[in-house]
Amino acid sequence: MLNIVIFGAPGSGKGTQSERIVNKYALNHISTGDVLRAEIKNGTELGKTAKGYIDQGQLIPDALMIDILASVFDSFKDSKGVIFDGFPRTIAQADALKNMLAERGQDVSIMLDLEVPEEELMTRLIKRGQDSGRADDNEETIKKRLHVYHSQTSPLIDWYKQEGKYHHINGLGTMDGIFAEICEAIDSL
Ligand code: AP5
Ligand code: MG
Repeated sequence: MLNIVIFGAPGSGKGTQSERIVNKYALNHISTGDVLRAEIKNGTELGKTAKGYIDQGQLIPDALMIDILASVFDSFKDSKGVIFDGFPRTIAQADALKNMLAERGQDVSIMLDLEVPEEELMTRLIKRGQDSGRADDNEETIKKRLHVYHSQTSPLIDWYKQEGKYHHINGLGTMDGIFAEICEAIDSL
């Protein structure tokens, strides 16, 4: 199985590129952000809990997130592989993913780190906030999300380097150009 972690700061293009990867390689896609937004939309208990964190730009507690991830993963049947978008976001989540895959005789194949300068992230997310109105795409919350990314999530870059899974992708440029670079990395596996 091809298990791909797509990684990067808020607005780096994880969702955009995941969609393309899913279509080309026929993988299943887990976006933890999308899972949580669907729960909020459906007004579930989980959604109510998640909303409090998302609106503040904070991460949902690891234990809760790890349970959700395992249950979505196990819902895929005869999967050729999975793209993990927005997970892991903490060292604890990376450990949990590694263990969960190992228990199922699998491993992360590659971690793709989409690197994008901070001004560009801000511009993209402000624009999306104006166009489609994701509740956390306002300047104040974006700043909090970026802070959380730097303090809690970016340490995963070194973690995946140590695992020998890290692959840098220049996330600035056209969506097609970035996708071509991603395909090259996947095809070289
Ligand atoms: P999540 O939904 O994962 O949001 P995020 O990480 O903040 O990232 P985004 O989805 O905003 O950006 P993206 O990288 O997917 O970029 P996109 O392709 O959309 O998480 C939201 C919240 O949920 C978190 O803050 C947290 O509270 C919670 N959460 C989720 N997972 C969690 C976890 N594992 N643990 C704990 N809490 C968790 O692109 C962004 C915009 O840029 C789009 O408008 C797009 O059209 C545009 N764009 C994309 N590529 C380009 C390009 N090359 N050039 C120009 N524009 C581009
Ligand atoms: Mg996304």
